[in-house]
Order: sequence, then structure tokens, then C-alpha cells
Amino acid sequence: MSESPAVLEFTGTAQDVVTSVHTAGPVRQVRLPNGVPVWLVTRHTEVREALSDPRLSNHDRNDWFDQGALSPQVRSAMNTSMLRLDPPDHTRLRKLIAKAFVPRRIEALRPRVGQLTGDLLDRMAAGSAEVDVITGYASPLPIQVICELLGVAVEDRANYREWADAFAAGLGAPVFPVQAVTDFVEHLQGLIARRRAEPDDALLSALIAARDQADRLTEDELISTAFLFIVAGHETTTNLIGNGLYLLLRNPELADRIRAHPEELPRAIEEFLRYESPVTGASLRTATEAMNLFGAEVAAGDLVMMSLHAANRDGTAFPDADGFQPGRERNPHLSFGYGIHFCMGAPLARLEAQVAIGEFLARFPQARLAVDADAVEWRPGLLTRGLAALPVRLAG
Ligand code: HEM
Repeated sequence: MSESPAVLEFTGTAQDVVTSVHTAGPVRQVRLPNGVPVWLVTRHTEVREALSDPRLSNHDRNDWFDQGALSPQVRSAMNTSMLRLDPPDHTRLRKLIAKAFVPRRIEALRPRVGQLTGDLLDRMAAGSAEVDVITGYASPLPIQVICELLGVAVEDRANYREWADAFAAGLGAPVFPVQAVTDFVEHLQGLIARRRAEPDDALLSALIAARDQADRLTEDELISTAFLFIVAGHETTTNLIGNGLYLLLRNPELADRIRAHPEELPRAIEEFLRYESPVTGASLRTATEAMNLFGAEVAAGDLVMMSLHAANRDGTAFPDADGFQPGRERNPHLSFGYGIHFCMGAPLARLEAQVAIGEFLARFPQARLAVDADAVEWRPGLLTRGLAALPVRLAG
């Protein structure tokens, strides 16, 4: 990697990065916790530009975490998802998947999301007066929804959650969870084989059947698409629901307002997405050639990371960028990314957040934070921002 005057030790949460780079230039060098150096892009305009720059590739040529111990088969299954590909492969895959992951499939899930939400709320109401809303609600809901969408059996869902959590925690960490990822991929292989033999109505069967003229998804592409959907659709949405409920509970007058005017919830959710971005950084890109990136001399092969959270707090893009304004009218946040890799699950994430947050507010009008609002603990994570726990007293 080319020389740079300032190398920032990136050690903790995404918030550390935002705070430390906010006033710095649009790009600077940082080190991941595993020691790997990356260029970090932090401003709204530059993040959008970088996310649209074809010279910055999603294809993993320069491994930034130790995949050496993974079997070639598991490695290939993990790395052929659309998020890891560039055009034309990305275009082909995204088009095929879009044939199965159609808007009506997401809308059809709405009543089921309502049922799952209702069951979790019942369970919390029947338990003790003080609950952790992350483990009791925000975390179990998205994994159930994504498993339901794909057609993963109820009894396997706890394993899927564990594997997906292990994978997310392992990104950029000193030790990569080889066994968990191997188990995850092998289970998906078995599930795909069963769905080939006996198709059902769920997304995995639709993906197996999806065709674009003579083209269809290969075995590796099927596995990595299912893997991506589970990983991309679980912790992200947990963070959105958890961060949103936290922001509401620390602003009780806002919670009351939304109870009285539920039609204002979708707009508030956009501000939750901006203010506490559930995904703080886009997946790492590799420079395919030497380039001057917003003043930085980036060498071919260097890694580049776009901080969505920092971009979302950029004062040149948002008036009062560090202020939480749930009624914000113009909110071009980058929490779902930008460009060709824009989040495919954004409509589902918004639907889940609307149902989960709306139903929680309606069910527990007396709910209050059980700890000081500033004492909550955030989970350490390179690319995500979410609470470790959200202790809440359900009744006044
Ligand atoms: C609040 C919840 C979510 C957030 C904040 C989020 C965020 C993102 C971001 C930032 C990207 C782009 C990453 C990049 O450019 O490197 C992305 C891509 C993606 N997301 Fe999401 N996501 C969420 C929920 C979901 C859900 C529920 C699903 C699945 C149903 C999903 C599926 C995907 C897929 C498949 C991609 C890759 C698209 C591509 O490469 O073309 N996401 N997401």
C-alpha cells in the first residue's frame, strides 16, 4: 500500500471511526483490527462516487480476512454471491435473482411478519416486567422472517442464527470462524438438494427454478445467494429495529406522537437508518489499478472501505447532520448503499421495521428504558452498529 501520513488504529466500534474522521479529509488510511490497512472514504459525495466507480472492484482478489483454512468448496460457495462480483457477472446474477425475489413475494410476507411479531410480543408480555428487547424481539424476528422467506425449517433456524452471527463477528476479526461457516454452507447444500427433489413455495425453490432464457443459477451461486440473504438480512434488520426502538424510548414524546400518528413512522424509520446506520460500512472494494482517489494515491490491489455512517453524518449533505430529526423531509441517506449493489432487501427491511416498531409501540404504551439512555452498550463490529442489549420496563 502506498505511503500515507496518518494511519489510524481502527480498534472499536463504527462510532469511533465517525468521531475520529469526521473532520479529516474525504479519504484516509486506517487499520482493521486484524492489522490489514484500508483506505476509508467518509464523505457523502465521495462515498457515492466511490460506490459507483468501476475501478473499485467487489471481487475478492485481495483477501482481507484469513480464508486459508476454509475448504476450496466452502470458499467458492461463500465468494460467488452477487455482492462479491462485478459486472457482467453481477448483472447476470442480480437479474436472475430478481426474477425470484419479486415485490409481491415480499408484500405476501407482511401478514406472516405480523404473526411472528405478535408471538414475540406475547412472549415478552408473559415474561418479567423488565426485558432485553434485543434478545427477546429485535434479534429473533429478522432471522425468522428470512428463514421463512427462503424456506428454512423452524427447527434449523437457531443454528442459522448462530452461524450468521459467527460469520458477521468474524469479519476483519483476528480469528475467522471456519467451523461455523463450513457448517453453514454444508447445511445450505443439503437444503438445496432437498428443494431440488421436492420444491415448495418459498424463495429457495424459486431461485432453483429461476431462468433467464437458457441461463440459471449454478450450485455455488445458489448456496452463496442463500448465504448472502441470511447474513445480509439478519443482523442488519435486528440493528434497525433495535436502534429505532432505542431512539424512540429515549425520546418518549416522539414515541407518543408516533402512537397517535402511525403514518409518520416510515419517515422516522428513514431517520433511524441515517442517524444510527445499522450497516456502517459498505463491503470492502479492491482498487483494480493505481488511482488518485480524492487526493490519496491508491495503489492497484489496495483495499477501500466506504463509511456509510460517516457519510450519513456529513454536514454538507444534511443540515444539522448530528441532530436526530425524525421529521426530516429530505433524507438521501446511504444506509442501503448506492449504485449497482444497492441493497436488494431494502423493501423487506423497511416492512419488518414498520411492523415490528409499530406493533411494539401499540402493545406497550408504558414502555420505558430500564437503564440510563447513555449507558446502553453497543456491540463491537467493523461493518455494523447495533446494541448488545436494550433493557426495557414494559409497564410504567
Ligand atoms: C436494515 C436492514 C438492511 C441494511 C441497512 C442493509 C444494507 C445493505 C447495504 C449497505 C448493501 C450494499 C453493500 C455494498 O455495496 O457493499 C446491501 C446489499 C445487499 N443487501 Fe441489504 N441491508 C439490509 C437488509 C437486507 C435484507 C433484509 C436483505 C435480504 C432479504 C438484504 C439483502 C441484500 C443483498 C442481496 C445485497 C447485495 C446486493 C448486490 O450486491 O447487488 N439486505 N445491503
